Amino acid sequence: MNPVELILRKRNGLPLLREEMQAFVSAYLNDAIPEYQMAAMLMAIFFRDMTPEEVQALTGVYIESGERISFPADWLTVDKHSTGGVGDKLSLLVAPLAAACGCRVPMISGRGLGHTGGTLYKLESVPGFRTGFSSADFKRLVEDVGMAIVAQSERLVPADKRIYALRDVTGTVESLPLITASIMSKKIAEGAANLIIDLKVGAGAFMKDMPTAQRLAGLLIAAGEAFGQRVGVVYSNMNAPLGDWVGNAVEVREAIRFLYGHVTSGDQFELTRLLWRDMLGLCGKSAEATDERFEALLRGEALEVFRRFVAAQGGDARVVDNPNLLTAAPIEIPIPAPDNGWVQAIDSQGIGYALIDVGAGRRRLDDALDYAAGAHLPHKIGAEVRRGDLLGRLYCSHRAKGEAAAQRIAGCYKLSSEKVVPQPVVLGRLNRWC
Ligand code: URA
Repeated sequence: MNPVELILRKRNGLPLLREEMQAFVSAYLNDAIPEYQMAAMLMAIFFRDMTPEEVQALTGVYIESGERISFPADWLTVDKHSTGGVGDKLSLLVAPLAAACGCRVPMISGRGLGHTGGTLYKLESVPGFRTGFSSADFKRLVEDVGMAIVAQSERLVPADKRIYALRDVTGTVESLPLITASIMSKKIAEGAANLIIDLKVGAGAFMKDMPTAQRLAGLLIAAGEAFGQRVGVVYSNMNAPLGDWVGNAVEVREAIRFLYGHVTSGDQFELTRLLWRDMLGLCGKSAEATDERFEALLRGEALEVFRRFVAAQGGDARVVDNPNLLTAAPIEIPIPAPDNGWVQAIDSQGIGYALIDVGAGRRRLDDALDYAAGAHLPHKIGAEVRRGDLLGRLYCSHRAKGEAAAQRIAGCYKLSSEKVVPQPVVLGRLNRWC
């Protein structure tokens, strides 16, 4: 295999064969192909795209670079993946809700990406909580608790781990074929038989419009099904942060309250219920997925699973009984509305970046994280505010940085002098299984 020849072929818009991708990726992992040649190949893929067949082949090459976990066929394994949003704590909700209904949720999750928060960062705000487990321990957690949320180990899809890091610094993240191979290889290798993808669309998402989201959905579903995984997609609106809180510990606290049945945000409730319903549906449990059952789960059953999950992964489960034990920021900064009006647009991406500025996320791996930093932002598109009312509150541990971030967040809200129609949180659904 001549790497330059393959780069030229892709650069000229011609498809690559599975064997060629296999040879290229394994040579890269063995350091026989340097970073600059892999970077050139990624850029060629970015501009020249891939056929669905190529995407499936690349997904397979990624999977085969490491170990593949499997669960007994009679376990109802189902995972939920989000393509990344702001205030998105739904993994903490749907996993215990589905597990409380007899599904098993093996979830390999990520840390934050760009302006979006990461489930692992949120969970690591619980004192003692661990996310690094061997595959054998991961399987044991799924068996004992019904759910586990862990980090990708060194042995699971090492090709993605290394290539993703290179994409991150070479401007090749936003490539649909590369996103598909990256997401689906991990979701297939983790062993879940079923998968629901919460495909975020809008200003705060990586997919800014529906046509792009639909193309990605098609690639994700085809890749999953090529490996025997049943995949459904929910398109959800990311034009506003999800729920009322954005950050790490503050989102865990909001999730715990939700599981207690203390629901303050209608969008979060609706999307959580739909994802839970589809997770059960994929597992052949549609009959159980009623509104009544959902509400009953919020009277203690799902919370009990969550408590066992936190304890099993080394976390201090007392936070479940008393979320005030979670770390809290010493400084609170009000974010006043600059004018009267209706919220017309929210730059959720800007909010995500403002929160990174106060330590709620990382720009680089070695940046310090402040688990307590976050914001309470309950207003959605269509909400009416008056000058001086609070758009929200910022919580942080550094006043000057906090003041700047609060100002930036205020600037993320566009107000209209005319009434604005609220937007739906669910934009569509693609699921041929239920
Ligand atoms: N999430 C992933 O795991 N990979 C991508 O490429 C994008 C989002």
